Amino acid sequence: MKRVAAALGGFLLLGASAVMADQKIAVEQDNLMRAQGKSMYAIIGKMVKGDIPYEQKAVDDAIADLEQNVAKISTVFTPNPKEQVKDATYGSSQKIWENKKDFDSKIPPVQKAIADVKGKIKDIDGLKVAFKSINDRCSDCHETYRLKLK
Ligand code: HEC
Repeated sequence: MKRVAAALGGFLLLGASAVMADQKIAVEQDNLMRAQGKSMYAIIGKMVKGDIPYEQKAVDDAIADLEQNVAKISTVFTPNPKEQVKDATYGSSQKIWENKKDFDSKIPPVQKAIADVKGKIKDIDGLKVAFKSINDRCSDCHETYRLKLK
């Protein structure tokens, strides 16, 4: 009887940690996208809108951060957490893991758009063009694989 209880306890614990692991994976995936959102919207996007002044170093850093983070998407989205981040606005469609190859195929176009402008943005007009060309490629993936939860 004790053994059964212990086994059952172990099983429940295992279940609980699996749930936690899933939430951790979902959060990690969300954090990667949020980091990209910071470079694209909190820095580049705000400069494009004129909310903050153009600053060369901030632009170069944002592009470098984006380049690094976009390269991580395929790996970070390999495990399927099968749950959304609690209270999140955006979530992941299960289609990602039904069609991971197609999901992954949306990444190189973003990388190309970044590589095409890297080191070449010198003023606000160049930044506007770069913002659009990169953002359009981000949207190509979001249209199919990102869910709006609320
Ligand atoms: C290969 C697919 C893919 C590409 C490319 C991609 N994303 Fe995402 N993005 C997702 C998915 C899936 C979600 C929803 C899950 C999540 O939030 O992690 C998401 C969510 C987001 C969110 C919302 C995060 C939140 O919950 O607040 C932001 C912001 C974002 N992406 C920015 C970007 C930017 C900027 C780019 C381009 C530089 C980009 N993404 C490229 C798939 C992609």
